[in-house]
Amino acid sequence: MRFEQQVALVTGAASGIGRALVQRLVAEGAAVVAVDIVEAPLQALVEELREQGAKVTGCTANVALDSDVDTMLTTATSVYGRLDILCNNAGIMDLMTPVADVTLDLWERVLAVNLNGPFLACRRAIPLFLEQGGGNIVNTASEAGLRGGTAGTPYTVAKHGVVGLTRSIAFHYGERGIRCNAVCPGAVATAIGIGGSAPSEAGLSRVSPFLQASAPSRIAAPEEIAAAIAFLASNDASYLNGAILPVDGGWFAA
Ligand SMILES: NC(=O)c1ccc[n+]([C@@H]2O[C@H](COP(=O)([O-])OP(=O)(O)OC[C@H]3O[C@@H](n4cnc5c(N)ncnc54)[C@H](O)[C@@H]3O)[C@@H](O)[C@H]2O)c1
Repeated sequence: MRFEQQVALVTGAASGIGRALVQRLVAEGAAVVAVDIVEAPLQALVEELREQGAKVTGCTANVALDSDVDTMLTTATSVYGRLDILCNNAGIMDLMTPVADVTLDLWERVLAVNLNGPFLACRRAIPLFLEQGGGNIVNTASEAGLRGGTAGTPYTVAKHGVVGLTRSIAFHYGERGIRCNAVCPGAVATAIGIGGSAPSEAGLSRVSPFLQASAPSRIAAPEEIAAAIAFLASNDASYLNGAILPVDGGWFAA
């Protein structure tokens, strides 16, 4: 029960890693604001957990919109009175598109969700944390935040940005009781796929052989990533700040 008396907010909560994370946090005693852009699966998760006695509130929001980010943070403070843990986890893929084929629309969509989203949430959560005397952020980056060969350009750039955001927050606010760390999952069995039905042939022909040759033999379950995020969010990681943690079965080590 590492999160008893604590309030957490998880984005991208309706599916995959976010869903497993909400389940993990409530199982360890947290009250959770579960945020997603899609309403039906989010509400189904919230109802299921409430029936089990969990403290969970659903909030439909687009993390790329500052007004929605305001709403999700206000939900935490108005329903539970505080916020202790922010998990920026919502993300979308980029069809594996290399830079010369990236449309401005694709670039802006992927950067808006994957990088602006965490920035907007951190920008609003940190003043709240400072007022409360501390707080904890865990960002879901990616193996694509560490190297260039696992996704297209927009996703790779956004996830490298999330790594930089994580380190910058750790540097600027660590002394004032705020920890900010990131996980870099490798391949995880979720719905994210490559981000749609029409992948970039040019990107896939480069990325697929690299993934086949280098990726670990086993794909992770979302719960294995959720466990690492929960660790970073917990007091067990009290001296970790600015850590960028590969959770990839040894992929980055190779
Ligand atoms: N699955 C993998 O192999 C893998 C690997 C590395 C990193 N990641 C990262 O893990 C995170 C979670 O992804 P997942 O694999 O669980 O995928 P997923 O598609 O199963 O879940 C992502 C969730 O984010 C939500 N979402 C998308 N855009 C949103 C927005 N604008 N506002 C609010 N919610 C939004 C989706 O509705 C979905 O429920 C992402 O940041 C992803 O980049 C995944």
